[in-house]
Amino acid sequence: MKMEEELDFADPLRHLCKTDESQSEILPPQPVSVQNQIVQLSFTCGSPEEQIQILLKVDASPGCGGLAWPAGEVLAAYLALRGRKSLSGKTILELGSGTGLVGLVAGALGGNAWITDQLPLLEIMKANVVMNDLASCVEVAELNWGKPIPDTLPRSPDLIITADCVYFEPAFPLLVETLDELVSNARTEVLFCYKKRRKADKRFFTLLRKRFTWEEVQDDPNTPVYSREAISLLRLFKKS
Ligand SMILES: C[S@@+](CC[C@H](N)C(=O)[O-])C[C@H]1O[C@@H](n2cnc3c(N)ncnc32)[C@H](O)[C@@H]1O
Repeated sequence: MKMEEELDFADPLRHLCKTDESQSEILPPQPVSVQNQIVQLSFTCGSPEEQIQILLKVDASPGCGGLAWPAGEVLAAYLALRGRKSLSGKTILELGSGTGLVGLVAGALGGNAWITDQLPLLEIMKANVVMNDLASCVEVAELNWGKPIPDTLPRSPDLIITADCVYFEPAFPLLVETLDELVSNARTEVLFCYKKRRKADKRFFTLLRKRFTWEEVQDDPNTPVYSREAISLLRLFKKS
Protein backbone atom coordinates (compact mmCIF):
# COMPACT_ATOMS: atom_id res chain seq x y z
CA MET A 1 0.00 0.00 0.00
CA LYS A 2 2.80 2.39 0.96
CA MET A 3 4.56 1.63 -2.29
CA GLU A 4 1.33 2.31 -4.23
CA GLU A 5 1.08 5.70 -2.51
CA GLU A 6 4.70 6.53 -3.31
CA LEU A 7 4.16 5.62 -6.94
CA ASP A 8 1.05 7.83 -7.02
CA PHE A 9 3.05 10.79 -5.78
CA ALA A 10 5.80 10.15 -8.34
CA ASP A 11 3.24 10.06 -11.18
CA PRO A 12 -0.35 10.82 -10.15
CA LEU A 13 -1.57 9.81 -13.61
CA ARG A 14 -0.01 6.37 -13.61
CA HIS A 15 -3.32 4.61 -12.84
CA LEU A 16 -4.72 6.18 -16.00
CA CYS A 17 -1.92 4.56 -17.99
CA LYS A 18 -2.85 0.97 -17.19
CA THR A 19 -3.28 -1.04 -20.32
CA ASP A 20 -5.74 -3.68 -19.13
CA GLU A 21 -9.14 -3.65 -20.80
CA SER A 22 -11.05 -2.60 -17.68
CA GLN A 23 -9.28 0.77 -17.88
CA SER A 24 -9.61 1.24 -21.62
CA GLU A 25 -12.49 3.75 -21.41
CA ILE A 26 -10.30 6.28 -19.61
CA LEU A 27 -7.37 6.25 -21.98
CA PRO A 28 -6.68 8.90 -24.58
CA PRO A 29 -6.78 7.64 -28.15
CA GLN A 30 -3.04 7.04 -28.38
CA PRO A 31 -1.05 4.02 -27.26
CA VAL A 32 0.35 4.77 -23.79
CA SER A 33 3.71 3.35 -24.79
CA VAL A 34 4.05 6.45 -26.97
CA GLN A 35 7.54 7.87 -26.90
CA ASN A 36 8.62 10.88 -28.78
CA GLN A 37 6.04 10.65 -31.57
CA ILE A 38 4.53 13.44 -33.63
CA VAL A 39 0.79 13.58 -34.31
CA GLN A 40 -1.01 16.07 -36.49
CA LEU A 41 -4.34 17.40 -35.27
CA SER A 42 -6.64 19.69 -37.19
CA PHE A 43 -9.38 21.91 -35.88
CA THR A 44 -12.19 23.60 -37.79
CA CYS A 45 -12.39 27.32 -37.18
CA GLY A 46 -15.37 29.68 -37.02
CA SER A 47 -15.47 29.79 -40.79
CA PRO A 48 -15.48 26.15 -41.97
CA GLU A 49 -12.99 26.86 -44.78
CA GLU A 50 -10.37 27.69 -42.17
CA GLN A 51 -8.58 24.85 -40.40
CA ILE A 52 -5.84 25.06 -37.81
CA GLN A 53 -3.19 22.35 -38.01
CA ILE A 54 -1.17 21.57 -34.90
CA LEU A 55 1.82 19.27 -34.88
CA LEU A 56 2.09 17.72 -31.45
CA LYS A 57 4.98 15.88 -29.95
CA VAL A 58 3.51 13.26 -27.61
CA ASP A 59 5.68 11.36 -25.19
CA ALA A 60 4.55 9.52 -22.07
CA SER A 61 8.04 9.42 -20.57
CA PRO A 62 7.71 12.68 -18.55
CA GLY A 63 4.33 11.35 -17.29
CA CYS A 64 0.92 10.78 -18.87
CA GLY A 65 0.54 14.57 -19.18
CA GLY A 66 2.79 14.15 -22.23
CA LEU A 67 -0.15 12.65 -24.18
CA ALA A 68 -3.10 14.58 -25.63
CA TRP A 69 -6.11 13.99 -23.40
CA PRO A 70 -9.73 13.89 -24.58
CA ALA A 71 -10.96 16.95 -22.68
CA GLY A 72 -8.00 18.90 -24.09
CA GLU A 73 -9.05 18.03 -27.62
CA VAL A 74 -12.63 19.08 -26.83
CA LEU A 75 -11.54 22.44 -25.42
CA ALA A 76 -9.11 23.05 -28.30
CA ALA A 77 -11.91 22.30 -30.80
CA TYR A 78 -14.27 24.70 -28.98
CA LEU A 79 -11.72 27.54 -29.02
CA ALA A 80 -11.13 26.96 -32.73
CA LEU A 81 -14.86 27.08 -33.44
CA ARG A 82 -15.18 30.35 -31.54
CA GLY A 83 -12.60 31.62 -33.98
CA ARG A 84 -10.00 34.33 -34.14
CA LYS A 85 -12.34 37.19 -33.21
CA SER A 86 -12.85 35.79 -29.73
CA LEU A 87 -9.13 35.27 -29.00
CA SER A 88 -7.15 37.75 -31.02
CA GLY A 89 -5.04 39.97 -28.74
CA LYS A 90 -6.41 38.28 -25.59
CA THR A 91 -4.23 37.13 -22.70
CA ILE A 92 -4.74 33.44 -22.05
CA LEU A 93 -3.37 31.28 -19.27
CA GLU A 94 -3.60 27.50 -19.33
CA LEU A 95 -3.19 25.31 -16.23
CA GLY A 96 -1.94 21.71 -16.43
CA SER A 97 -1.18 22.07 -20.13
CA GLY A 98 0.62 18.73 -20.59
CA THR A 99 1.68 18.85 -24.24
CA GLY A 100 0.32 22.40 -24.49
CA LEU A 101 -2.28 21.52 -27.13
CA VAL A 102 -5.07 23.85 -25.98
CA GLY A 103 -2.79 26.84 -25.45
CA LEU A 104 -1.13 26.21 -28.82
CA VAL A 105 -4.52 26.42 -30.51
CA ALA A 106 -5.25 29.63 -28.57
CA GLY A 107 -1.92 31.07 -29.79
CA ALA A 108 -2.57 29.95 -33.37
CA LEU A 109 -5.87 31.88 -33.19
CA GLY A 110 -4.09 35.11 -32.34
CA GLY A 111 -4.09 34.96 -28.52
CA ASN A 112 -1.11 35.65 -26.28
CA ALA A 113 -0.99 32.36 -24.42
CA TRP A 114 0.93 31.09 -21.40
CA ILE A 115 1.01 27.32 -21.15
CA THR A 116 1.98 25.99 -17.73
CA ASP A 117 2.63 22.72 -15.98
CA GLN A 118 5.05 21.03 -13.63
CA LEU A 119 8.76 20.92 -14.41
CA PRO A 120 8.94 17.51 -16.19
CA LEU A 121 6.44 18.68 -18.84
CA LEU A 122 8.16 21.94 -19.77
CA GLU A 123 10.49 20.40 -22.31
CA ILE A 124 7.72 18.79 -24.37
CA MET A 125 5.68 22.02 -24.26
CA LYS A 126 8.70 24.03 -25.46
CA ALA A 127 9.29 21.55 -28.29
CA ASN A 128 5.64 21.89 -29.34
CA VAL A 129 5.78 25.68 -29.33
CA VAL A 130 8.85 25.64 -31.58
CA MET A 131 7.48 22.93 -33.89
CA ASN A 132 4.35 25.02 -34.52
CA ASP A 133 6.29 28.24 -34.95
CA LEU A 134 4.33 29.90 -32.13
CA ALA A 135 7.20 31.25 -30.01
CA SER A 136 6.09 34.83 -30.66
CA CYS A 137 2.72 34.26 -28.96
CA VAL A 138 2.97 31.20 -26.69
CA GLU A 139 5.14 31.24 -23.55
CA VAL A 140 5.98 28.17 -21.48
CA ALA A 141 6.19 28.45 -17.68
CA GLU A 142 6.30 26.28 -14.61
CA LEU A 143 3.21 26.63 -12.44
CA ASN A 144 2.53 24.20 -9.63
CA TRP A 145 -1.01 24.40 -8.30
CA GLY A 146 -1.19 25.53 -4.70
CA LYS A 147 2.24 27.18 -4.92
CA PRO A 148 2.84 30.94 -5.31
CA ILE A 149 2.08 32.13 -8.82
CA PRO A 150 5.29 33.28 -10.52
CA ASP A 151 5.44 37.06 -11.11
CA THR A 152 6.16 36.46 -14.79
CA LEU A 153 2.65 35.08 -15.35
CA PRO A 154 -0.21 37.42 -16.22
CA ARG A 155 -2.55 38.39 -13.38
CA SER A 156 -6.20 38.67 -14.31
CA PRO A 157 -5.82 37.17 -17.81
CA ASP A 158 -8.75 37.50 -20.20
CA LEU A 159 -9.16 33.74 -20.33
CA ILE A 160 -8.08 30.82 -18.15
CA ILE A 161 -8.26 27.36 -19.71
CA THR A 162 -7.99 23.99 -17.99
CA ALA A 163 -8.56 20.56 -19.50
CA ASP A 164 -8.53 17.10 -17.97
CA CYS A 165 -7.05 18.23 -14.67
CA VAL A 166 -9.43 16.42 -12.27
CA TYR A 167 -7.94 13.02 -11.58
CA PHE A 168 -5.79 13.01 -8.44
CA GLU A 169 -7.53 13.73 -5.17
CA PRO A 170 -4.62 15.28 -3.24
CA ALA A 171 -4.34 17.88 -6.02
CA PHE A 172 -8.06 18.90 -5.87
CA PRO A 173 -7.66 21.66 -3.24
CA LEU A 174 -4.46 22.87 -4.90
CA LEU A 175 -6.15 23.36 -8.27
CA VAL A 176 -9.10 25.17 -6.67
CA GLU A 177 -6.71 27.42 -4.74
CA THR A 178 -4.77 28.36 -7.89
CA LEU A 179 -7.94 29.05 -9.87
CA ASP A 180 -9.22 31.19 -7.02
CA GLU A 181 -5.98 33.16 -6.86
CA LEU A 182 -5.85 33.75 -10.59
CA VAL A 183 -9.40 35.01 -11.01
CA SER A 184 -9.56 38.40 -9.40
CA ASN A 185 -12.43 39.91 -11.32
CA ALA A 186 -15.46 38.99 -13.38
CA ARG A 187 -13.68 40.07 -16.58
CA THR A 188 -11.69 36.82 -16.62
CA GLU A 189 -13.49 34.03 -18.45
CA VAL A 190 -12.70 30.53 -17.11
CA LEU A 191 -13.26 27.52 -19.36
CA PHE A 192 -12.94 24.22 -17.58
CA CYS A 193 -13.19 21.00 -19.56
CA TYR A 194 -13.47 17.83 -17.60
CA LYS A 195 -13.93 14.11 -18.17
CA LYS A 196 -15.70 12.27 -15.39
CA ARG A 197 -13.84 9.10 -14.55
CA ARG A 198 -14.35 8.27 -10.92
CA LYS A 199 -16.91 8.87 -8.21
CA ALA A 200 -14.20 10.68 -6.22
CA ASP A 201 -14.24 13.47 -8.85
CA LYS A 202 -17.35 14.72 -7.05
CA ARG A 203 -15.14 15.84 -4.20
CA PHE A 204 -13.36 18.23 -6.54
CA PHE A 205 -16.67 19.92 -7.32
CA THR A 206 -17.58 20.06 -3.64
CA LEU A 207 -14.39 22.07 -3.09
CA LEU A 208 -14.89 24.15 -6.23
CA ARG A 209 -18.42 25.09 -5.10
CA LYS A 210 -16.96 26.98 -2.12
CA ARG A 211 -15.31 29.52 -4.45
CA PHE A 212 -17.04 29.23 -7.85
CA THR A 213 -20.36 28.60 -9.53
CA TRP A 214 -20.51 27.18 -13.06
CA GLU A 215 -22.67 26.49 -16.05
CA GLU A 216 -22.33 24.24 -19.09
CA VAL A 217 -21.10 26.10 -22.16
CA GLN A 218 -24.21 26.54 -24.32
CA ASP A 219 -22.81 27.46 -27.72
CA ASP A 220 -20.75 24.39 -28.60
CA PRO A 221 -22.38 22.32 -31.36
CA ASN A 222 -20.20 19.35 -30.37
CA THR A 223 -21.69 19.02 -26.86
CA PRO A 224 -23.97 16.06 -27.74
CA VAL A 225 -20.95 14.16 -29.10
CA TYR A 226 -18.56 14.58 -26.18
CA SER A 227 -21.18 14.38 -23.44
CA ARG A 228 -21.63 10.75 -24.50
CA GLU A 229 -17.99 10.31 -23.40
CA ALA A 230 -18.77 11.88 -19.98
CA ILE A 231 -16.94 15.09 -20.96
CA SER A 232 -18.35 18.45 -19.84
CA LEU A 233 -17.24 21.92 -20.84
CA LEU A 234 -17.98 24.38 -18.06
CA ARG A 235 -17.66 28.12 -17.61
CA LEU A 236 -16.74 29.02 -14.04
CA PHE A 237 -17.75 32.19 -12.19
CA LYS A 238 -16.01 33.30 -9.05
CA LYS A 239 -18.27 33.85 -6.09
CA SER A 240 -18.04 37.35 -4.67
C1 LIG B 1 -4.47 14.52 -17.70
S1 LIG B 1 -3.19 15.68 -17.98
C2 LIG B 1 -4.01 16.81 -19.06
C3 LIG B 1 -3.02 17.51 -19.95
C4 LIG B 1 -3.64 18.47 -20.96
N1 LIG B 1 -4.37 19.53 -20.29
C5 LIG B 1 -4.53 17.74 -21.93
O1 LIG B 1 -5.76 17.90 -21.84
O2 LIG B 1 -4.02 17.01 -22.78
C6 LIG B 1 -3.14 16.63 -16.45
C7 LIG B 1 -2.00 17.62 -16.37
O3 LIG B 1 -2.03 18.28 -15.10
C8 LIG B 1 -0.70 18.45 -14.65
N2 LIG B 1 -0.67 18.58 -13.19
C9 LIG B 1 -0.98 17.63 -12.27
N3 LIG B 1 -0.79 18.07 -11.03
C10 LIG B 1 -0.33 19.35 -11.14
C11 LIG B 1 0.06 20.34 -10.19
N4 LIG B 1 0.03 20.09 -8.87
N5 LIG B 1 0.49 21.53 -10.67
C12 LIG B 1 0.51 21.78 -12.00
N6 LIG B 1 0.16 20.88 -12.94
C13 LIG B 1 -0.26 19.67 -12.53
C14 LIG B 1 -0.02 17.19 -15.11
O4 LIG B 1 1.40 17.34 -15.15
C15 LIG B 1 -0.64 16.94 -16.47
O5 LIG B 1 0.10 17.52 -17.50
